[in-house]
Amino acid sequence: APKPNIAPSMLSSDFACLADEAKRMVSCGADSLHMDIMDGHFVPNMTMGAPVIKSLRKHTDVFLDCHMMVSKPEQWVDDFAKSGASMYCFHVEATSDPSALIDQIHAAGMKAGMAVKPKTNVDVVFPVAHKLDQVLIMTVEPGFGGQKFMADCIPKVEILRQKYPNLDIQVDGGVGPENIDVAAAAGANVIVAGTSIFGAPSPKEAIATLRNSVLT
Ligand code: DX5
Ligand code: ZN
Repeated sequence: APKPNIAPSMLSSDFACLADEAKRMVSCGADSLHMDIMDGHFVPNMTMGAPVIKSLRKHTDVFLDCHMMVSKPEQWVDDFAKSGASMYCFHVEATSDPSALIDQIHAAGMKAGMAVKPKTNVDVVFPVAHKLDQVLIMTVEPGFGGQKFMADCIPKVEILRQKYPNLDIQVDGGVGPENIDVAAAAGANVIVAGTSIFGAPSPKEAIATLRNSVLT
């Protein structure tokens, strides 16, 4: 089975101290950092674009997993590649040709991920699963941190894990100690958490707890 990967969502960090926050998460045991890119159009919120990734990249070598909540994912591939993004995870709902977009991302030198909103059927993954480096099953409606985990999204993880034993399956939204076992048992191995890590008395312990739940 694929390795556990704990990815703090930097949406919950202090953006004014992003480099320090990133280094703090790495020193607390993070495997990668989840960067929530929102364009104010695909979702009703705005965060950051490629210039911020470029600035952050100068301060750390950590894997930067960019979750692209944008309406035109084709438009930003080259900018993010040049900025030092490691993974470009687009939303299937935002493109008419996922297969071509995956090729474009790989040609630009990044890993390709595809994200699936809570109301989108998991079948959309099947035609392109073989060329994806990761599938992201959203467990909240994208747009904001701090929302409640939607357990009814978890059967999608189970279906994917059964079909694809080696695929990296990421869960994102409301994940914390109270529901990690459900997500892990279904087969999720890449765990995004914002509020439950940054809000914990010890982010280091919070990360360790998430990792131990994926292992067992
Ligand atoms: C929501 C984002 C998530 C979110 C996770 O649109 O994709 O990454 O920041 O934050 P929590 O863990 O607080 O739900
Ligand atoms: Zn996210």
